[in-house]
Amino acid sequence: MIDFDVKVQSVLSEYHERLKAETARMKSLPIEEGVRRRDEFLLPVGPDVGRFLNTLLRGAESKCILEIGTSYGYSTVWLAEAARKNGGRLITLEIDGKKAKYAKSQIEKAGLESFVEFRVGDALTAIRDASERFDFVLLDLWKDLYVPCFQLFLPKLNADAFVVADNMILPSNHHQAATSYRMTVRKSGMFDSLLLPIGSGIEVSQKIT
Ligand SMILES: C[S@@+](CC[C@H](N)C(=O)[O-])C[C@H]1O[C@@H](n2cnc3c(N)ncnc32)[C@H](O)[C@@H]1O
Repeated sequence: MIDFDVKVQSVLSEYHERLKAETARMKSLPIEEGVRRRDEFLLPVGPDVGRFLNTLLRGAESKCILEIGTSYGYSTVWLAEAARKNGGRLITLEIDGKKAKYAKSQIEKAGLESFVEFRVGDALTAIRDASERFDFVLLDLWKDLYVPCFQLFLPKLNADAFVVADNMILPSNHHQAATSYRMTVRKSGMFDSLLLPIGSGIEVSQKIT
């Protein structure tokens, strides 16, 4: 985060404070209640994955970035900062209008609004309708939708594109959906893939054909 400007650093610090408070609140809730109330929480990739994504994007000089699952905009800030650095742009997809509105105000506060386009609605429809080709995709919506999303954005990936999928290791109740996603990517034969134990576990795949 060394060369991030003050506005971006300040917005990230605000999220980190909120995350600390929410982690404590979530731990105090029975599991079923936490699941029922999941839309109240950031559910972010977390600082390690955020930093990793930003570094990977900068190194790869990715220009057209797709985020599937904006939530309240935490990962969006990390991706948008790299989009600005690379002279690129980020398209971010979220079904919940309230969350997208909050994320948009945070992106404006961070001074990154010129680099982000918010598309509110079902990600499957948005991917199907997208006319862009992508250099980088972050897959982080509800886990049963990873495979259907992957099948839709696959023909829209540029050569050497990266796809990063979150929650490959934790929480453990998503294990089946995570395995199904990882097997789908690997069986396609079109990617080099690695499972990295950062944050909740990410599958990092680069298109090779
Ligand atoms: C785990 S959160 C994303 C967290 C975010 N990437 C971050 O790190 O801050 C998953 C998000 O996907 C959204 N989502 C779930 N199903 C969706 C769908 N069909 N289309 C678009 N967004 C969806 C949820 O509303 C939720 O906000």
